[in-house]
Amino acid sequence: MRSTFQWTRNAGPFDSTTTTRTSARALRPTPSTGSILLPEFRDVHPHMADRLAVLRAAPVLDMGCGPTRLGTLLDAHGVPWVGLDASINRLRLGHGPRLLGDASRLPFPDGTFGAVTALYMLYHFEDPLIPIREAFRVLRPGGLFAACAPSRFDEPEIAGFMPPQPLDTFDSDIAPELIGTVFELAGIDIWDMSLFRFTEREALRTHLIARGTRPHVADDIATRVGFPLWLTKRGATVWGRKPEP
Ligand SMILES: C[S@@+](CC[C@H](N)C(=O)[O-])C[C@H]1O[C@@H](n2cnc3c(N)ncnc32)[C@H](O)[C@@H]1O
Repeated sequence: MRSTFQWTRNAGPFDSTTTTRTSARALRPTPSTGSILLPEFRDVHPHMADRLAVLRAAPVLDMGCGPTRLGTLLDAHGVPWVGLDASINRLRLGHGPRLLGDASRLPFPDGTFGAVTALYMLYHFEDPLIPIREAFRVLRPGGLFAACAPSRFDEPEIAGFMPPQPLDTFDSDIAPELIGTVFELAGIDIWDMSLFRFTEREALRTHLIARGTRPHVADDIATRVGFPLWLTKRGATVWGRKPEP
């Protein structure tokens, strides 16, 4: 069920993909000192909410909704949604309609939703095709699926310092192929830009630990790199459509 698709470079998690490095004046400090985030940064959630509202793709199922960042934004657009997550603790951080469940066995009948989203969650599965097929099942014909993940080439500036590790089961580099085996591909929004600037060791260490790096590895990297350090963020959102009969 593969089809041709278009690369859309301007609809990623940034207001502008033209910025690579910008002047210090244009940067704003993040709450943690010692690091700076480009002002163009918006993660995928606002873009996704805007897009789903414009496309009138509803109701939306947000698989692995976590603290319901997407749902809160959909509420602002008046788009009906429900979140599902396997962690009660993550669900407790959220608001609105949400339930505990496993995206491998969605507790919904076939053809329930106009859109299903899977934001930064498919890499938790040994076989991501299982939740992708579940998403297909619960979508109406013509319904949209959207999944995002970082690239395996994310943060290349520190890749050489990282210990060897197996590839994630789902990343933006294999996402089109995996999603394309189940859905008609409907678009890819890519991000690839220098986003974070670190001026201090402790800020980099905190960032690395927050993204899952072991503390002793984070310590080691933070002592070996030079500052200021720019980190390039890479990844994509891949869109699929359930074909009409
Ligand atoms: C990195 S978080 C992303 C949360 C949210 N989508 C976001 O973008 O803010 C991944 C989420 O997937 C959830 N998750 C992991 N395995 C799951 C499963 N089998 N079924 C449903 N949710 C799952 C986790 O509990 C976690 O909340």
